[in-house]
Amino acid sequence: MKKAVYPGSFDPVTYGHLDIIRRAAEMFDEVTIAVLDNRAKTPLFSVDERVKMLRKVTGDIPNVKVDWFFGLLIDYARSIGVHTAIRGLRAVTDFEYELQIAQTNRLLSHGELDTIFLTTSLEYAYLNSSAVREIASFNGDISQCVPPFVEEKVREKYRQIQAQ
Ligand code: PNS
Repeated sequence: MKKAVYPGSFDPVTYGHLDIIRRAAEMFDEVTIAVLDNRAKTPLFSVDERVKMLRKVTGDIPNVKVDWFFGLLIDYARSIGVHTAIRGLRAVTDFEYELQIAQTNRLLSHGELDTIFLTTSLEYAYLNSSAVREIASFNGDISQCVPPFVEEKVREKYRQIQAQ
């Protein structure tokens, strides 16, 4: 069985992520989306909220699972018996950072964890979660960036924050 892990922050999941998830799900028998619990950062959504949103928007893809992890990706990948990580490459600006992570993961895992890059479809090439958060924080239109369910959750989150 060909298995892969797609790690990320997904704060929140965007159409760019979904594009990578759908394409990866066609290449592998099972894709586990792994949400990083990064305790050094304060995300907009909790890990639990991000996992729930991802489950909702990938519910129609049978070979996709959603989980979360804390710590090193290589340890998590080993714990679920996966040797391939998927990452999306949007533009050349992503390359340096992604290459560094991929090489470090190969080194740390003694070659056990390799990374496969999928180039993001052009319409999503400049989309990222932090832009989505910024646009939404100023009440801008994010309907082209995230699915309607996620859009509602983002709006709800900023309504709560602004009411504080
Ligand atoms: O969506 P992001 O924030 O670009 O995802 C980054 C992620 C989660 C893939 C990366 O930060 C990660 O794997 N972090 C876990 C810690 C780790 O394994 N670090 C070693 C590689 S530098």
